[in-house]
Amino acid sequence: MKIRKIKIREVDLFLDFFRKSIKNQFDEYSKKSKDFLLKKEWTKERIRNSIKGNNVIFILSFDKEKIVGYLIGNHHFGGIATVMWIAVDDNYQGRGIGKKLFNNFISLSKKEGTHKINLTVTNKRNIGFYEKLGFKVQCFSEKDYFGLDSYLMYKNIQKSKW
Ligand SMILES: CC(C)(COP(=O)(O)OP(=O)(O)OC[C@H]1O[C@@H](n2cnc3c(N)ncnc32)[C@H](O)[C@@H]1OP(=O)(O)O)[C@@H](O)C(=O)NCCC(=O)NCCS
Repeated sequence: MKIRKIKIREVDLFLDFFRKSIKNQFDEYSKKSKDFLLKKEWTKERIRNSIKGNNVIFILSFDKEKIVGYLIGNHHFGGIATVMWIAVDDNYQGRGIGKKLFNNFISLSKKEGTHKINLTVTNKRNIGFYEKLGFKVQCFSEKDYFGLDSYLMYKNIQKSKW
């Protein structure tokens, strides 16, 4: 199992996995939200530009040449980075891949001077996963992004440099 940043030539491979993941793994999102995310927000063009410009961090997990998980996060602003999306192929869950994706993102973020990671959990059943990784619930946010009741979670990863 390999975990590393995406390469520009892997955009099609990633998009194929990402589209299936959004369609099948995020039940709480409405069809309208999913259409917006896939047709407007995460288009091939925007993903390519984000990788080229290193604006967004895409970390992938591979079983041989096959993608089996991904994490999408931001570089920090003022020391705070955000994890936007994470998912592991249903057949590969429970094998430590999600944890490894996070650890990879955390070590990369530390090098960039990030002291805290924030994320939004839209599905209560995942809170336990993030708690296992050392995240804490900051607050409950009613009708957050995409109108979903969510939990805002955070983890301090090193001393603030500010
Ligand atoms: C959430 C998700 C990314 C976890 O990935 P995973 O590879 O199965 O998780 P891991 O195997 O790395 O689990 C790490 C630890 O968390 C625990 N864990 C995993 N899911 C958990 C859950 N829902 N509740 C409590 N603990 C959980 C594991 O038992 C493991 O514990 P250990 O370190 O003591 O062995 C995966 O279930 C997934 O892709 N779900 C569908 C998409 C999704 O909901 N994404 C998150 C949106 S907020």
